[in-house]
Amino acid sequence: MTVDQINFSGKKALIRVDFNVPLDKNTFAVTDDARIRATIPTIKKIIADGGACVLMSHLGRPLKKLNEDGSIAYDKFTLQHVLEKVTELTGVAVQFAGDCMGEKANEMANDLKAGEILLLENLRFYKEEEKGDVTFAEKLSKLGDIYVNDAFGTAHRAHASTAIIAQFFPKAACFGYVMAKEIENAQKVMQDAERPFTAITGGAKVSDKLLILENLIEKVDYLIIGGGMAYTFLKAQGYEIGSSLCEDDRLDLCRELMTKAEQRGVKLLLPEDSVVADAFSNEAAYKMCSNQQIETGWMGLDIGEKAIASFSEAILSSKTILWNGPMGVFEMSHFENGTKQVGAAVVAASKNGAFSLIGGGDSAAAVAKFGYENEVSYISTGGGALLEYFEGKQLPGIAAIEAVC
Ligand code: 3PG
Ligand code: MG
Repeated sequence: MTVDQINFSGKKALIRVDFNVPLDKNTFAVTDDARIRATIPTIKKIIADGGACVLMSHLGRPLKKLNEDGSIAYDKFTLQHVLEKVTELTGVAVQFAGDCMGEKANEMANDLKAGEILLLENLRFYKEEEKGDVTFAEKLSKLGDIYVNDAFGTAHRAHASTAIIAQFFPKAACFGYVMAKEIENAQKVMQDAERPFTAITGGAKVSDKLLILENLIEKVDYLIIGGGMAYTFLKAQGYEIGSSLCEDDRLDLCRELMTKAEQRGVKLLLPEDSVVADAFSNEAAYKMCSNQQIETGWMGLDIGEKAIASFSEAILSSKTILWNGPMGVFEMSHFENGTKQVGAAVVAASKNGAFSLIGGGDSAAAVAKFGYENEVSYISTGGGALLEYFEGKQLPGIAAIEAVC
């Protein structure tokens, strides 16, 4: 059930959004508004119906990043930082409650008229949010008539505002457009993938990606492994990897995954070559070398030309592409090329009609850096949430809505 099935005329929608967006360290200005932009259609639909919106979100992890004296850094984690952006993007002067509960928030929510928007303060200023506290959820539930969950990025958390609260809205809860689209696109890849289906995985650690790799091996035709995690696989094959990233306690698991891929007829592609450097720095000396001969003291920070060619060939032959994780340290100019070229191949395949889904961690940031945002099929707003979806887990934020509507 989505917002399309509800007429919000005269109703107050309590919308869980994911406004956990990156901020400038000094000015606290929003540096990437993708998650906010994504929710605008949901807000606009409710307002067009003649409803009002109460928006609630978390921002960062304030209770895990306390000030030195143990107090909460309200100034750093206040959702006031996104207020101007939300006002700009909705075209409505958004009101700010200064708290997510209590007298003032209740009053402001009560007084809200059709067409108005109220933003609540960071839910994670209360420990009850992350604990999934039922009383806290019930108090929040009083702030709206209909509960809309549009926070895909936080759907993997069983928190008060993402999962527990839904029970207080029997037959009055639904997904927003972000959630609906994310689920639809993830399902398209996970359940109805047109073949060949290629998954591109990268990032630093094998241990972060084990479950998703295990699950993807059951589904894909090509499994591309780049980024730091590739070196653990290369070492597992018996290669010298110099001082490249390696998780020695995962070597057996890498071997098992490679065997499993072979048994299932999945083509597992590891990089044949690397751009190696003598330090983890853009100022370090660097050169291209084969992955069979990385010398002591050198570390792989990007995939090399041969790897780009073979990865691109697989990508270009594909009809469905899932990309999770960069190919190298794309934040540093000397080690960005692998990620950039793999991105270019994803763009070219998409132009040829492939469906490409990008998400999880840094891949969306890479796609933005290289200007591919409008040239791939879909960029997920989810990091960890998308990852868990592709691990085959049920996401509490999705399950809670399904249970009550
Ligand atoms: C995210 O960016 O991962 C989501 O907003 C969830 O935040 P969390 O990882 O701190 O729970
Ligand atoms: Mg996260």
